[in-house]
Amino acid sequence: MEVLIASQAGFCFGVTRALELALAAREPPIYTLGPLVHNPLVINQLKERGIHPVSSVEEIREGSLLIRTHGVPPAIIEEAREKNLRVIDATCPLVKKIHGIVRNLREEGYRVAVIGHSRHPEVQGILGYSGEGSIVIEKEEEAAALPFQKKLGIVVQTTELTENFHKIAIRLLERAEECRIFNTICFATQERQRAALELAMIVDLMIIVGGKNSSNTRKLLEISQETGTTTYLVESAEELERGWFSGKKKIGLTGGASTPDEAIHRVKRMVESFGNTGL
Ligand code: F3S
Repeated sequence: MEVLIASQAGFCFGVTRALELALAAREPPIYTLGPLVHNPLVINQLKERGIHPVSSVEEIREGSLLIRTHGVPPAIIEEAREKNLRVIDATCPLVKKIHGIVRNLREEGYRVAVIGHSRHPEVQGILGYSGEGSIVIEKEEEAAALPFQKKLGIVVQTTELTENFHKIAIRLLERAEECRIFNTICFATQERQRAALELAMIVDLMIIVGGKNSSNTRKLLEISQETGTTTYLVESAEELERGWFSGKKKIGLTGGASTPDEAIHRVKRMVESFGNTGL
């Protein structure tokens, strides 16, 4: 059995930077609003170093608040400062760039539309900068139903599928007199999606390694499944089932932007060990 890893897989530069900032912060307790990365293995390692996820600033009495790669609305940073918490900003620079774009659009009188998932923390953070009246568009039908706008400024969640972005942006273009569109899908996401697609097309089975609640990991799953190749999403090697590999010759592996290389390589070793036992 041959096991191939996608040419682009695992940690992106934004996640690597956030982890470096977290590990460099020497004075625990350090808190993050939600997990720093969507990967249970990494979260456990961080907990051992005094870095804990919480669900709101209210839960923190002292110490530091580390802002995740997804970013947060400015009101959260103000709330933390009012409580005298030290703020360590690990917002991915690509997400920060979106904050700047929507702030400018708002100042120039555009209604902002964010293509993405309304409950995703990155989108929530962007809405904190784009101001009242901003809208989130998840599906083509929602775009088509939007009342006609005078000035519409469009950005997209960094992990959105390129194809969805194109379909929705074209619909929105028809719903405004003047429209500015910014392709804010991050290059790391695009590279991982392209590499997953290329690999899924040449293998018998795909395994995606990553957190089940990670947006970019789930997008890789979707892309792979759409090629018709059987695909499984696992958080760790322990979730693999021998039966999946029966009769398969070529296996493809990839991991989301918050999946450590080690997790991908552990899965590879496990899959190879199934092959060695004659499956
Ligand atoms: Fe940043 Fe893209 Fe990673 S937005 S956190 S480089 S997936």
